[in-house]
Amino acid sequence: MVSLILLLPILTILSFFAVFPEPAHALWPQPRNLQTGPSTLRLSPSFTITVGVPNPPADLLAAAQRTRALLFNDKLGRLVLGRGTGDLKAVSSARVLSHLTLKLDGNVTTTTARPISVEAKLPFGQRDEGYRLIVPEDGSAAVLSANSTLGLFRGLTTFGQLWYTVSGTVYTLGAPVEIQDSPAYPYRGFMLDTARNYFPVSDIERTLDAMSWVHINTLHWHIVDSQSFPLVVPGFTDIAQKGAYSADAVYTPQDVANIVSYAGARGIDVLIEIDTPGHTSVISKAHPEHIACAEAKPWSTYANEPPAGQLRLASSATTNFTVGLLSAVAKLFPSPLFSTGGDEINARCYHDDAQTQNDLAGRSVEQALDVFTQATHGALKKLGKTPVVWEEMILNFNLTLSNDTIALVWISSSDAAAVASKGFRVIHAGSNSFYLDCGAGGWVGDFPAGNSWCEPYKTWQNAYTFDPLANLTTAQAPLVLGGQQLLWTEQSGPQNLDSIAWPRAAASAEVFWSGSGGNVSAALPRLHELGYRLRQRGVHAISLQPEWCALRPFACDLTA
Ligand SMILES: *[C@@H]1O[C@H](CO)[C@@H](O)[C@H](O)[C@H]1NC(C)=O
Ligand SMILES: *[C@@H]1O[C@H](CO)[C@@H](O)[C@H](O)[C@H]1NC(C)=O
Ligand SMILES: *[C@@H]1O[C@H](CO)[C@@H](O)[C@H](O)[C@H]1NC(C)=O
Ligand SMILES: *[C@@H]1O[C@H](CO)[C@@H](O)[C@H](O)[C@H]1NC(C)=O
Ligand SMILES: *[C@@H]1O[C@H](CO)[C@@H](O)[C@H](O)[C@H]1NC(C)=O
Ligand SMILES: *[C@@H]1O[C@H](CO)[C@@H](O)[C@H](O)[C@H]1NC(C)=O
Ligand SMILES: *[C@@H]1O[C@H](CO)[C@@H](O)[C@H](O)[C@H]1NC(C)=O
Repeated sequence: MVSLILLLPILTILSFFAVFPEPAHALWPQPRNLQTGPSTLRLSPSFTITVGVPNPPADLLAAAQRTRALLFNDKLGRLVLGRGTGDLKAVSSARVLSHLTLKLDGNVTTTTARPISVEAKLPFGQRDEGYRLIVPEDGSAAVLSANSTLGLFRGLTTFGQLWYTVSGTVYTLGAPVEIQDSPAYPYRGFMLDTARNYFPVSDIERTLDAMSWVHINTLHWHIVDSQSFPLVVPGFTDIAQKGAYSADAVYTPQDVANIVSYAGARGIDVLIEIDTPGHTSVISKAHPEHIACAEAKPWSTYANEPPAGQLRLASSATTNFTVGLLSAVAKLFPSPLFSTGGDEINARCYHDDAQTQNDLAGRSVEQALDVFTQATHGALKKLGKTPVVWEEMILNFNLTLSNDTIALVWISSSDAAAVASKGFRVIHAGSNSFYLDCGAGGWVGDFPAGNSWCEPYKTWQNAYTFDPLANLTTAQAPLVLGGQQLLWTEQSGPQNLDSIAWPRAAASAEVFWSGSGGNVSAALPRLHELGYRLRQRGVHAISLQPEWCALRPFACDLTA
């Protein structure tokens, strides 16, 4: 109690047109420019959002409606002792906000307002996520403006985080609020593996909602792997028929279209990955002719996880098959990006496969991989896709890759410097900071002493203190597109999706939106607010501390 009494006056002084908000402003990620004032503002029960855009796209209108609904449905009590009852006096005499108006800047004609879903899939240089939000303190209309519907969407998300509820009244503190915001990095992702365990469409959609609430703009969907192939690919339906866990555990083209559209309407692009040539064992169920060392034993000799099996990369028939498969998948996903994977290629698998040795005809595996990759990437480029690969394709093999290829740096973030020195663009996905699965003990059976390979558990603080530009030169810095946290699902399923991902996955969302260098002590009260708000919205985010601490910002800091 004593520390709270001491803290409050200090915070109030700091919040008066301060660059950083008082913790009561539950904004996540932190806007890059934020000014707040001293006033309380109530939201009118008949509050309206006017989309002042000629011929407004349907997804923008829907986003405005969802935002309005959340304002009244969140019912989030402020994270202080009394959960906001101490604000009642100020709330009762506060001015009332009745209107938010959305505007597009520039010369907007009836044809220039593109849907959010279209803006979200533009190439990085053309995507404009910036917005400006002004909430006056006198109750006159708030104004949200941007150059694109995507920017308006990001601004709506931020607007929705300004509000608390006490005794049925929705209110904010710190008016007037003025925000000018845009992301530090163009790529902010979340990766989900739906092959080790299957996730119903509704789980993916709930995850997309949570992602959109923290301005994450890419779902990296690791949809298939050696264990299962849930994607029903037109022309290749036998793979899912024989390779999904069950007839129900599949994603049909209609499911994919629904997910892509749900994501797009929330400013999220879906980057699909079909990992090749490794991580493909299950394809052998429908096409044994294309898979080397299928389910060979012991698995650990031929793969990093059971079951073993890799595409016969030296075979022209397998190359043609893979080109056909990837092209068919590419047509299901409108993203400008497509990942062909390329991690953990096992040399022994090809060494022991008589057919591959025959197909190699004296060539090295690296030479065959080059031919194979040029074929798959060439086909994808013809479909307008930019290839994305795991870092080994750049660092372990000397391949002919087009210079716009993007590398996912996963083994260690310190490999980013080597990727950048070869001139390739980088997405940070390092197991050392961003793997959400680490630290849960080993999952391999008959190995009681086993640990996860990437011990320990990666805390939100680990991700939050990540420096995307560490060890890069100033000239290399623009090669960093951004980064993401990743959920490999050997030990996850729908049961723990929310709890293993949230609120942790918000840590990288802030690093890559607001920029690095954030202060974990200052961030924690805001992250608590986000966690509590996620729960109010039906996402089962875990607690980061006892509620005693959440209600007393900084009181549980190490030296408090
Ligand atoms: C706005 O754009 C339209 C067509 O793109 C053009 O005809 C008009 O002159 C422009 N108006 C202004 C004020 O620039
Ligand atoms: C709109 O674009 C202009 C020109 O690129 C830029 O200066 C401005 O900051 C953008 N507006 C917002 C709200 O991001
Ligand atoms: C190449 O693959 C396509 C299916 O994508 C198939 O129709 C065609 O017969 C294959 N050609 C060869 C030479 O294997
Ligand atoms: C990589 O391959 C190219 C030809 O494809 C060759 O010129 C170059 O020397 C190779 N580099 C290394 C490090 O092997
Ligand atoms: C790739 O090379 C072309 C031609 O040299 C250049 O114009 C382009 O900017 C490069 N792209 C990237 C991403 O480096
Ligand atoms: C930076 O380089 C140092 C020295 O090689 C290394 O120890 C460290 O892990 C690197 N850090 C990152 C984030 O790359
Ligand atoms: C981090 O934030 C805390 C809480 O606001 C503050 O006391 C501390 O001085 C900050 N540390 C740095 C290095 O800015």
